[in-house]
Parts: sequence; structure tokens; C-alpha cells
Amino acid sequence: MEKRKANLAVLVSGSGSNLAALIDAVNTGIITEGMISLVVSNKKDAYALQRAENAGIPCLSAKRSDFATDEEFDKHLLSSLKAHRIDLVLLAGYMRILTKPLLEAYNERILNIHPSLLPEFGGIGMYGMKVHEEVIRTGITVSGCTVHIVNEHVDQGPILAQASVSVFPDDTPDSLAARILKEEHRLYPATVEKFLTGFRI
Ligand code: GAR
Repeated sequence: MEKRKANLAVLVSGSGSNLAALIDAVNTGIITEGMISLVVSNKKDAYALQRAENAGIPCLSAKRSDFATDEEFDKHLLSSLKAHRIDLVLLAGYMRILTKPLLEAYNERILNIHPSLLPEFGGIGMYGMKVHEEVIRTGITVSGCTVHIVNEHVDQGPILAQASVSVFPDDTPDSLAARILKEEHRLYPATVEKFLTGFRI
């Protein structure tokens, strides 16, 4: 029997350039073992939602403040993931910490991309531009990005792949972010495809 493609959900909060890279990767055959079946945002005005709509991908957004607890919010997302028969969840600039209901239902089936060479510059409060600001503040000369499996310890799950870039003396957080994003857009799709190759639905 032919192996079916895995249903991927991409969780986003912002611009969604990683989502765009994943969509491109499916369209150009870099990702062959999965299809993006759902995009979920916790921000109604995230540009990522526009990108999903343009690509004809079902999307939904939900506001944390409409729910009593983080767990209730995640249970709501979980019911949508289940309804869309999602096999693998990809965090792509999703700026929330996942709680037990999601982590248990998708144990070892949630991946994240983080804009530093973990375990450096990770953990609670270290996300997005804050990472690049801190990297520049400390004066290190190499940074990068990491794709890892998500577990209950923020940014500490098993590392699947990393890419490094130079940090130059005249870098700003923006210039460094742009250099790292370029690597993210290559690394995430390639790592997802590799992960799916050994994936049991
Ligand atoms: C990316 O750099 C991603 O690695 C980072 O947010 C940015 C989202 O950009 N994620 C985190 O910091 C998660 N801890 P995008 O919305 O354009 O993909």
C-alpha cells in the first residue's frame, strides 16, 4: 500500500516567513512526505494568516484571552488539530509556550525552529528579536538557528539540526535576524523532510 502523506499543521504568531518557506518547499518538492493541511495563529492580524489564505490552506486563529487558562486554549487548538487529522505540528514563529494537553497528544510530534544555536540563547523570554539583541550584547561572533523536537522543557528538546552564521561587529539585531532567517528558511523544510522520512503515521 502506498504511504500517505503526513498532515502538517503550522503554528504561527507573526510574519510567517518560515511558513512561506515551508509552503514553497511543499510546492517545489523539497518536502515530499507531507502536506500543510492547517495553519493556526494565536494572533488574528498575523501576516502569516494572509500567506496561508493566499496559498489556499485552511487556517484558524484563536485568542488566548477568550479562554480561562492556557490549558483550555491549547485544548481548543488540539480539537482543531484532531479534526484536521494532523500528524505533525510545526511551530514557526509561534510565540506561546505549549501546555500539557498539546504536548501529551503530540508527544515527539511537534517541531520548533529557534533563532539561535541552542542550548545558547534559549528558554522562557528568549524569542524573536530578543535573541538577536542578546547575542549582539554579549559580543559572540557566531550565532545561527536550531530545529528541535518540542518537549515540556522550553527550547530543550532533542536537537535535529543546526546552521550557523557569522555575527559581524557592525551587525544590528535586524541585520543578524535577516542573515539567520535565510538559514532558517533552508534548514526547517530540509529537516522536516528528513524527519518525515522516518516518520510512522
Ligand atoms: C523566526 O526567527 C523564528 O526562529 C523565531 O521567530 C521568528 C519568526 O519569523 N521563533 C522563535 O523565536 C521561537 N522561540 P517568521 O514569522 O517570519 O517565521
